[in-house]
Amino acid sequence: MSRITSIEQYHQEYKRSIDHPEEFWAEQAEQFVWKKKWDRVLDWNFIDPKINWYIGGKLNITENCLDRHLPARADQIAYYWEPNDPAEKAVQFTYKQLHEQVCKFANVLKKNGAKKGDRICIYMPMVPELVIALLACARIGAIHSVVFGGFSASALSSRIQDSDCKIVIATDGAYRAAKDIPMKELVDEALEVCPSVSKVIVLERTQTKIKMVAGRDVFWNDEMKKVNSDCAAEPMDAEDMLFILYTSGSTGKPKGVVHTCGGYMVYTHYTFENVFQYRDNEVFWCTADIGWITGHSYCVYAPLLAGATSVIFEGVPTYPDASRFWQVIDKYKVNIFYTAPTAIRALEAAGLNFVNPYQLDSLRVLGSVGEPINEEAWNWYNKNIGKEKCPIVDTWWQTETGGMMISPIAGVTLTKPGFATLPLPGIQPVLVDEKGNEIFGNGVEGNLCIKFPWPSIIRSTYGDHERCKQNYFVTYPGLYFTGDGCRRDENGYYRITGRVDDVMNVSGHRIGTAEVESAINMHADIVESAVVAYPHDIKGQGIYAFVICTKKNKDKDALRKEILAEVTKVIGSIAKPDKIQIVSGLPKTRSGKIMRRILRKVAEGELTNLGDTSTLLDPAVVDEIKAGAL
Ligand code: WTA
Repeated sequence: MSRITSIEQYHQEYKRSIDHPEEFWAEQAEQFVWKKKWDRVLDWNFIDPKINWYIGGKLNITENCLDRHLPARADQIAYYWEPNDPAEKAVQFTYKQLHEQVCKFANVLKKNGAKKGDRICIYMPMVPELVIALLACARIGAIHSVVFGGFSASALSSRIQDSDCKIVIATDGAYRAAKDIPMKELVDEALEVCPSVSKVIVLERTQTKIKMVAGRDVFWNDEMKKVNSDCAAEPMDAEDMLFILYTSGSTGKPKGVVHTCGGYMVYTHYTFENVFQYRDNEVFWCTADIGWITGHSYCVYAPLLAGATSVIFEGVPTYPDASRFWQVIDKYKVNIFYTAPTAIRALEAAGLNFVNPYQLDSLRVLGSVGEPINEEAWNWYNKNIGKEKCPIVDTWWQTETGGMMISPIAGVTLTKPGFATLPLPGIQPVLVDEKGNEIFGNGVEGNLCIKFPWPSIIRSTYGDHERCKQNYFVTYPGLYFTGDGCRRDENGYYRITGRVDDVMNVSGHRIGTAEVESAINMHADIVESAVVAYPHDIKGQGIYAFVICTKKNKDKDALRKEILAEVTKVIGSIAKPDKIQIVSGLPKTRSGKIMRRILRKVAEGELTNLGDTSTLLDPAVVDEIKAGAL
């Protein structure tokens, strides 16, 4: 694999990756263990879409994450695990121990009926066994579908149903800050409507009292005692599915983004090595939850592919207090720290008293991901955490892209606050106008598309290929459409301006407005609702809901509480609206379409300049909405 070490080399490599993509990506794949080498590097079209990388190649990603490193790194730490409560004992795993645990748990899965191609749902907090569970699935060729531990029973069941999962791996409970969350109880509730699930494997984390269903539920620890640690890695086709990860879109239910084995492996590893410039023996810490793509790619697969040592953290940045991140960085001498703008803003707001007692002198590179980082947060991060000596890599990418797409290369690319800067090798971004015409040149703004495949591009949406086509490849034929707006400045630097569709980004979590609306509408007294995002100091975006209630005399505070409870039940507390305005009507056009533009302005506090309202069916509702704005 080639490592870029200067900006001149970046430009050369970039050009080579565009002029000769197949040669370029073949080279990046050479170092891995392939059970059979590929016959052809790439076959693609963005119309069906059909995208195949490393065609005919056979591999198992866990051999490349684990077995391949054993001769040189058996006793090197793969993970330091830091528990939610700092008083609890921390745990660490060497590559050898991790390999052994993964092989054993892979045997547990087999013993419980799992086979290549089966879907397995994983619903766990950030415990080391979560990593073990993912890798054990990959070891035997089962497809993992991790559901973020903060999702509700109802959100869990719809994800299990969508991909017909056969096994669920969960914990009894989860510790999150001072809370104790009854995970197994939520699983039991979810499984009432999931006939495809025949086994539940339960790891005891909190020792909470739980019900075990005879014949269905087994304990992780009991099962591990019954197996040995010999488990040959299943040979997988490069294009066999590695995992499904559900993410929100602008319409309908969350969709299962499909990633496959070969291309995902090559691309996540390439980006990790280059963007962070990881050096042997460094300690890397990505604070994302493994329930999201950042955790899949940069807590699990990429660092292991690189033979790195990582920290995984069970807790939250503000527990027991807002110094936790900085304390953990000093404790493990973290060199590369990768987090989200929302965390940076929350810790900035907590004040420097939480930062000052810590050295933070091990840090070499800082990263940001998940949402646009505002200039102020960037500067604060740079000055107070990086001490103005650590390059900040603002990495733009998506669940669908598998790995980082537009990002500085640490120490190589000159950074600029708020800018993701330049495309990584192999990535061909284009900006288009509403009609799909490409906008050339610099100092321009448009919708961000990519015109050529990279190895870890989304392959499909599980069970519904047409949906994948409609979502990403139809809006601008011949291009992959990201859903993001973007500016290219005078120097060709890219700045992501945010979503241009009905997807919100709340504390770095992707949430569809339609999803929240349909959850609110489950409330018996709500006839209709409209949800929009508005700028929020800490969360990036907050959720503003306009609701129409059938009962005119209903107590407003009670209704608000009930709506929050409903959203928590249907999706999870991450999707709770920050503001709920009760209205008697919504601004609709004569054809019945809600004019969200107006609602967005009201939510933003912009009450004077609402634009053209003449096409509204009933312009009077706007006055009422304005008068009641929160
Ligand atoms: C947003 C997370 C600005 C963007 C990896 C994208 C960003 C969505 C950045 C994907 C960034 C992610 N700057 N915006 N550095 N990174 N985004 O699928 O709107 O959870 O489309 O993947 O987050 O969110 P997802």
